Amino acid sequence: MSVLGIFEIGHPVLRERAHELTSDELASPRIQRLIDDMIETMRAAGGAGLAANQVGQTVRVAVAEVDDNPRYPYKPPFPLTVLVNPTIEPLDDETVQINEGCLSVPGLRGELPRSINVRLRYLDRDGAPHDEVRRGLTAGTLQHEVDHLDGVLFLDRVTDRRTLTTWEQFERFHRDEFVTRITAFTDRVGS
Ligand code: NI
Repeated sequence: MSVLGIFEIGHPVLRERAHELTSDELASPRIQRLIDDMIETMRAAGGAGLAANQVGQTVRVAVAEVDDNPRYPYKPPFPLTVLVNPTIEPLDDETVQINEGCLSVPGLRGELPRSINVRLRYLDRDGAPHDEVRRGLTAGTLQHEVDHLDGVLFLDRVTDRRTLTTWEQFERFHRDEFVTRITAFTDRVGS
């Protein structure tokens, strides 16, 4: 396994729609190796998720994992999940304002609405289908990753650009208020 370079905003690959994998492609050594490398890259960078576009591959593969993440200490734990050809649909109109960052948008965070109850369908790395309901901040993380596969960055969804902040200024001026609000939210919805 190896840690891959992460492409940053401005690189056209982040704006491309990644394509679905066939079961033969998914089983290939090239894609299985890519999945291993994406997991290692996500962990090395301290990300909660990583999509293939971010390492320059336009295939519909993303990985996500939250485990005492210092970038996002308020996020509930989420076991390592490999998402192949994922689709997400909101189950209702309920949303929450989430302050997000992205490994491909170094330095910036901002607030945007995410659906909090979603239906997630995907194949795992062995090609087995999954059909799950995900809620809360985990649902937000998964929407962020599927957005990447559609060429969408969190900045595109920031409704009030005055919420944009560097990580340093987030820590100084916004972190406590956001964590208080979002912790009350996660306590209420349970994830
Ligand atoms: Ni991202």
